[in-house]
Amino acid sequence: MREVYLDNAATTPMYPEAVEDMQDILKDVFGNPSSTHSFGRKAKSHLENARKEIGEILNCSSSEICFTSGGTEADNTAIKCAVNHLGVKNIITSKLEHKAVLDTAKLMEEMGLAKVFWIENDKEGKLDYEQLNYLAQTHDNCLISIMHANNEIGTLNDLEIISRIGRESKSFVHSDTVQTVGHFPINLETLSLDFIAAAAHKFHGPKGVGFLYCNKNNKIKGLITGGGQESRRRAGTENVAGIVGMVTALRNSVKNMEANAKQIRKMKDYLKVKLCSEVPDVQFFGDTSNNSLYTVLNIALPNRFDAAILPFQLDMNGICISSGSACNSGANKGSHVINALNVLPNHKPIRVSMSEFNSLEDLDYFIAVLKSLDLN
Ligand SMILES: Cc1ncc(COP(=O)(O)O)c(C=O)c1O
Repeated sequence: MREVYLDNAATTPMYPEAVEDMQDILKDVFGNPSSTHSFGRKAKSHLENARKEIGEILNCSSSEICFTSGGTEADNTAIKCAVNHLGVKNIITSKLEHKAVLDTAKLMEEMGLAKVFWIENDKEGKLDYEQLNYLAQTHDNCLISIMHANNEIGTLNDLEIISRIGRESKSFVHSDTVQTVGHFPINLETLSLDFIAAAAHKFHGPKGVGFLYCNKNNKIKGLITGGGQESRRRAGTENVAGIVGMVTALRNSVKNMEANAKQIRKMKDYLKVKLCSEVPDVQFFGDTSNNSLYTVLNIALPNRFDAAILPFQLDMNGICISSGSACNSGANKGSHVINALNVLPNHKPIRVSMSEFNSLEDLDYFIAVLKSLDLN
């Protein structure tokens, strides 16, 4: 049976070069990067070269890159440390954030440490920047936490506008850029952000490793305490092989960014047009325009499809997709993102997320199987 992987927003297959570089480290470089002897120094040099290269790619100082176990930890560190160490009392965010941000902000409020303000969104998931500006201008000690691209519906937020609002209102700004690092150019010199979060497994690197960009003006003491690693911002021996695999993956993604974006955007458009012509009453959740996250298309299927078992039926035919965020699978309340859009009550979401390893033939196969499951 044909196998078609269309769940790249959950995680991506690794680049072979990243696997090879990791294998070399795992075989030959086992020193602890905090040890001062030659084995330790060798590991440390790999770590620091990776940090330097990430700094160059994002146009920031290498010292502003703090390695973490992935996107969730980076988001948690930014929000909790902003509250615990930078005096943040108000968090301005949206209901469309990933749970790593949403639940962390809610927890800060439940613990009485900060108040959370929610920005309104429209039916495509676009945010009300005027309200954001108003809230930031009328409250002191704010952290604005807004993701760059939504992982379920592909709607993009404008980091330039958000960072300008942050600067003018003297708020801290955090952006969960987990779906866009390696996929969109991000220039931290021009953006004036305080924190961004990244996860290697979203750009063809390994799972369980990522980083937090933390602007050098922000003296945080970390979320995980213990040893003095990562300039005391994150205790614990670093995952050297994972970090090396991450930087190889990031280098590859950035090198081929334009060509990949063009190819994947073409696939997204193709899928959208073909679905519209072949599946009656199909619609879409989120922004599907040219100015959206090109890797994600959230298809709103009419109720004659059995949404509860559709991912399973597709899986039986070798097609891997998900109905929403992988972190929510198993929860049956539906997606908090789709619920917050408040549209198309008679349609249910399935998220197709693509990478450069997909082809138009994959999409043709997906549509053919989908049509065979249509009870029309
Ligand atoms: C937007 C977004 N933020 C955060 C995360 C969490 O990243 P990680 O799986 O590396 O913890 C994800 C992963 O699904 C994501 O898509």
